[in-house]
Amino acid sequence: MANKKTILVTGSKGQLGNELRELAGSVKDADFHFVDIEELDITNGQQIRKFFDEIKPTHCINCAAYTAVDKAESDRELCDLINVTGVENLAVACKVHDAVLYHISTDFVFNGNASQPLTEDQDTDPVCYYGESKLKGEKQVAETTEKHYIIRTSWLYSSFGNNFVKTMIRLGETKPELGVIFDQVGTPTYAKDLAASILEMIDAPEDHFGIYHYSNEGVASWYDFTKAIFEYKAITIPVKPIPTTAYPTPAKRPHFSVMDKNKIKTNFDLAIPYWRDSLKECLEKL
Ligand SMILES: NC(=O)c1ccc[n+]([C@@H]2O[C@H](COP(=O)([O-])OP(=O)(O)OC[C@H]3O[C@@H](n4cnc5c(N)ncnc54)[C@H](OP(=O)(O)O)[C@@H]3O)[C@@H](O)[C@H]2O)c1
Repeated sequence: MANKKTILVTGSKGQLGNELRELAGSVKDADFHFVDIEELDITNGQQIRKFFDEIKPTHCINCAAYTAVDKAESDRELCDLINVTGVENLAVACKVHDAVLYHISTDFVFNGNASQPLTEDQDTDPVCYYGESKLKGEKQVAETTEKHYIIRTSWLYSSFGNNFVKTMIRLGETKPELGVIFDQVGTPTYAKDLAASILEMIDAPEDHFGIYHYSNEGVASWYDFTKAIFEYKAITIPVKPIPTTAYPTPAKRPHFSVMDKNKIKTNFDLAIPYWRDSLKECLEKL
């Protein structure tokens, strides 16, 4: 078939990669290649060139990343190697093969001082090394290949992999009470919703390359998020709101990272679910 798509998904054993794998069957006229570090290490430029020459992707969804936010502070070299050099390798290969690159980035590129939902053109200013490395990765993409989508998302969770939702359930089932941060505000994102939206973007009749913000709808603090998880899981231990200062971590986090999603909703006619509805759906699957 002349316009059959060949879609490469890197980092496919992570949260987003697994969600894409589950939804891939619903995409018509597309061959998917799901790879993770064992098959395709994005830091290995030579391996990437060979892989691209063999499968000739028309689209690449990069879910591979160094995502250990706190560890990144003391592990900068590896963090950069994956989030910057690895991303550059993929961008170069996409450019050579005229493939469209879907690269996932983060709300952590912002400093969190805003009080209105963040738009794509707002100034970036990461407050931790992970955010800095992701911002450098974004710049590599934008400077290397025109045919790109940089999708910034936030507070990602899924029934796959490790994440805040699973950690809270574990703690809720083993601790007598819990203190959770209430002064960091953002929006949780079910990786399945993001995966579905990326596949819709691939299927869209027109290209609108550039940077996009994507999370679920609504706003929450980590405290609100935890209360909702416990409500749906019928976990009854007391949960106390605590300030960030009471829970010091190696990496600083933005206090406010609610993103404005108008651009992605308008350009791709997307309907984005409310975070509580998506959380419920994910918990029912768990
Ligand atoms: N998780 C969040 O809360 C969050 C929030 C905002 C944005 N994001 C962004 O969203 C994207 C997807 O996140 P996620 O939560 O799905 O990540 P994830 O679950 O950590 O998955 C990342 C995958 O990439 C793999 N990987 C690491 N180094 C690699 C390499 N050199 N070559 C190929 N694969 C490699 C990882 O393997 P190993 O597990 O073996 O390292 C893992 O399977 C990332 O770009 C992340 O920065 C995430």
